[in-house]
Amino acid sequence: MKPQLILLGAPGSGKGTQAARLVAELHYNHISTGDLLRKEIKSESELGKKVQGIMNSGKLVDDNTVLELLNANCDLSQNAYIFDGFPRNHDQAKALDEVVLKKSKSRAVYFNIDLEKLAARLTNRRTCSGCGEIFNLLSKAPAKEGVCDLCGKSLTQRKDDNEETVKTRLQVFKETIDPVLAHYEESGRLARIDASQNPDDVFAALKGLTEE
Ligand code: AP5
Ligand code: MG
Repeated sequence: MKPQLILLGAPGSGKGTQAARLVAELHYNHISTGDLLRKEIKSESELGKKVQGIMNSGKLVDDNTVLELLNANCDLSQNAYIFDGFPRNHDQAKALDEVVLKKSKSRAVYFNIDLEKLAARLTNRRTCSGCGEIFNLLSKAPAKEGVCDLCGKSLTQRKDDNEETVKTRLQVFKETIDPVLAHYEESGRLARIDASQNPDDVFAALKGLTEE
C-alpha cells in the first residue's frame, strides 16, 4: 500500500488544493479536520455549536475533540489516507502515530512558504458549495463570477478567511509548527516542498515523494 501522507503547512499553503489532485490522480482518501469541523457547524450539531466560535476566531479546537472526529472518519485498512490539517501541535502528532497510524507506513510533507504571502491567498479564496473545488480570485478565478466552473453551484467564502482571523491563524501556526516538524524529522519521515511554486509544480514535487 502507498504510505499514509501527512500534509503539514500554514493556512493557505495549498494543502487542500494538492490533496484534491492526489485524490483524483493517485486515488488516496482525503481527510481534512477543518472540513470535518465545518461540516459539523453546517449541520448545527452539538459539536458544531461548540467549535464555531473557536474556528471563527482562528484558534485551535481542543486536541481530544479533533482526534475523536478524525478517528471516527478514517479506516486505514481500506486505503491510504492524506491527513490534511492534522496534526497541528506536538501532542496531536504523537496521538496520530499512537492512536491512528499505529504500524502503518507514513510520510510527512511540509509545504514551505513565506508566511507573508498567505494572507492574500486566503482572503481571495472561494470554495464551491457543491463540489468543494477551491478557487482564488487572484490566481484561479472562476470563468463566471461566483459560480463553480465544474458543477455550476455557488462559490462561498470561508468565515475564517477575513484579515483579522487570518492574522490569528498564521500566528497560531508560527507558535505550534516547530515541534511538529521536529517530530517527523526525528523519525526520518519529513520531506519539504517549495509551496510558493505554481500548483502544477507543487503537485509534481508531491507526486515524486509518493513514488520514492
Ligand atoms: P483548516 O481547514 O485545516 O485550515 P488551515 O490549516 O488554516 O488551512 P487552509 O484550508 O486555510 O489552507 P490550505 O493549505 O488547505 O490551502 P488551500 O489549498 O485551500 O482549519 C480551519 C480551522 O479548523 C483551524 O483554524 C482550527 O480552528 C480548526 N482545526 C482544523 N484542524 C484542527 C486540528 N487538527 N486541531 C485543532 N483545530 C483544528 O489554498 C488556499 C488558497 O490559495 C486557495 O484560494 C488556492 O486556490 C490558492 N492556492 C493554492 N495553491 C496555490 C499555489 N501554489 N499558488 C497560488 N495560489 C495557490
Ligand atoms: Mg484546507
